[in-house]
Amino acid sequence: MKKINIGLFGFGCVGSGLYKVLEESNNLDAKITRIVAKNPNKQRESTTIPISYNSREILEDESINVVVELINDSGEAYAIIKEALQRKKHVVTANKKVLAENLAELITLAKENGVSLLYEAAVAGSIPIIRNLEEYYNNDLLTTIEGILNGTTNYILTKSNAGITYSEALQEAQDKGFAESDPTLDVDGFDSIYKLTILLKHAFGAVVAPSELLTVGIRNLKKQEVKFVKEKGFRIKLIAKAFVIENKLFAYLAPHIIESSHAAYNVDNEFNAVLVQAAYADKQLFYGKGAGSFPTASAVLSDISALRYDYAYEYRKTNSEIRNLSQNLLLKVYIGSENVNTLSEFEFNEIEDLYIGKNYSYQIGFIKLEDLLKVNWNKRNDLSLLIFSENKLPNHTQKKTISNLNLLSNKTLSS
Ligand code: HSE
Repeated sequence: MKKINIGLFGFGCVGSGLYKVLEESNNLDAKITRIVAKNPNKQRESTTIPISYNSREILEDESINVVVELINDSGEAYAIIKEALQRKKHVVTANKKVLAENLAELITLAKENGVSLLYEAAVAGSIPIIRNLEEYYNNDLLTTIEGILNGTTNYILTKSNAGITYSEALQEAQDKGFAESDPTLDVDGFDSIYKLTILLKHAFGAVVAPSELLTVGIRNLKKQEVKFVKEKGFRIKLIAKAFVIENKLFAYLAPHIIESSHAAYNVDNEFNAVLVQAAYADKQLFYGKGAGSFPTASAVLSDISALRYDYAYEYRKTNSEIRNLSQNLLLKVYIGSENVNTLSEFEFNEIEDLYIGKNYSYQIGFIKLEDLLKVNWNKRNDLSLLIFSENKLPNHTQKKTISNLNLLSNKTLSS
């Protein structure tokens, strides 16, 4: 592409970051020629580019060949991305929700119109994970991709570990510009699951709807779990995971209990990390800032820069044999509850530990992923689910519930 004329939608945290970063990147033949923002009454830093409030001014401007979409409203963002592609403009976006929910359609649209749709900033902020999955892991040797994909929740978990309350930590994350405008998307895990959905396409060629995947956020974690984990020298991290066993693909998101040997153990605050495992290469860790104005803008800048040589994702895994998602797996979990009777709702294949107290009980053991999917964990504030790293394909071991166990023969403690 000769010259890059950018129409920028959104002048918030990331949009204004991009503006500054581009101003300082003199050797890039790219400039923002128009900005469209949402709120005319918002106090903004002054720019040399006039800000307008009418999307037609970018979409109908034929001199603009690249649309950078960085707005909050996902309905509006979807319409902008779609029209821009139809008008044969390249699109760079950080909108994970729009991408995750409409990936197949938008990829087709970009292809039909002969333009690029790039979105490195949509997953793990500044970490160049999509480009690496596309270019380096361009074969079927990948077996696992897992990581911390949300800066806000990692910030909250880090601060909770240091004794700061959940609401104070969330407020700090909002003040620093990490959180979504609706922070429910962060704390209930939706932001992470959108990102995992996008990674599934690039890592394994799988197109899944985010709603198919187990999504458990951090809202209902209790002080008892934080204490349990701390006492054992473990940590809680909100981990998104996708892996292949015997040609079946598994993927889910939940708070995990991890040991100090886990690559994500020391990934704190707004940092993200993506651990990739592949045959021959073994483990590789990508680490960097997952949220914030400049780190996210840097990923957007990299996409803009890639357009200089007409870069487009090739989706090389599309015909991979490993494309089908399965939920037939046993996961080792910790389920905590304020009411011990609730625990008997769950059918465990193996129980490793059981604690029964007056106001809080927990059970650790293996349970089917399919069964975990039947519970709306984010809405059940009496329950919490944490997952360990161990999992296995089901065999025919005897199913157990608390009610068919002889409780007296187990470790039964009172609080
Ligand atoms: N709210 C997101 C996060 C922003 O906290 O990670 C980056 O996608």
